[in-house]
Amino acid sequence: MTPDNRPHDKLDRVVIFLGPPGAGKGTQAKELARKFSAPHLSTGDMLREHVAQGTSLGQRAQPIMGRGELVPDSIVLRMVAERIERPDCSHGFVFDGFPRTVAQAQWLGELLKQHGFKPPLVVHMVIERAMLLRRITGRRTCKVGGEIYNVYDRPPKCEGRCDHDGGELEQRPDDREEIVALRLAAYEKQTAPLAAYYRRLGMLRDIDASKSVDEVGKSILDFVREAL
Ligand code: AP5
Repeated sequence: MTPDNRPHDKLDRVVIFLGPPGAGKGTQAKELARKFSAPHLSTGDMLREHVAQGTSLGQRAQPIMGRGELVPDSIVLRMVAERIERPDCSHGFVFDGFPRTVAQAQWLGELLKQHGFKPPLVVHMVIERAMLLRRITGRRTCKVGGEIYNVYDRPPKCEGRCDHDGGELEQRPDDREEIVALRLAAYEKQTAPLAAYYRRLGMLRDIDASKSVDEVGKSILDFVREAL
């Protein structure tokens, strides 16, 4: 049995994926969660689900997301707190796109303490800006299961259809080039300082996200295994 195929223990930790739009957080967070049979909590996916269902939360979030800005804490924190309360989170989970500000990180730190979790492990996806645009504009996501593809680098076997469930592949509305620039600016201003915040606390590992999906995945797995 190869090291990556051997059975995984319970995660019993919280893993945070931090990195700019298009770095590959979703791709890797889903895979890590799958390996440990842990929930994958993407605040972006949760918000998009609210938008798709037309809930009042979704109606408030939609124009903000469409402008490439961060959704206010009054919306995001309640959504996260409710999700963490569910029993499937009791043995750890993987955050993708949360926290995104130092204030969110401080709030999360308190919440995890209350739930008896150790400090989170932070995967910091490091990648040059020049590579991000190709990844984002080429991204297509399955409407059914959320599987992530890229028309340039990770195309589906059959154009426009998911390999897993045959679902239709779609492009996110905020993946247009002019909105991507705004999302990157929001990242630099509000989220990038989180790397220094978690580095100071000694829980962060820089991961070279420019490598292949498999290589990046292996570096992340090594980090998490060492820390468990
Ligand atoms: P969110 O959905 O979190 O988007 P994001 O952070 O901008 O990140 P992306 O989903 O664009 O990229 P990713 O890093 O997950 O990359 P992926 O794996 O898809 O947030 C969207 C919006 O929601 C925000 O703008 C904000 O408005 C709101 N929001 C969310 N959370 C919030 C919060 N906490 N507070 C406030 N507001 C919040 O990969 C990208 C592409 O690259 C894919 O095509 C993939 O196939 C390809 N790829 C991945 N890895 C590789 C590789 N190694 N080699 C080649 N191609 C690769």
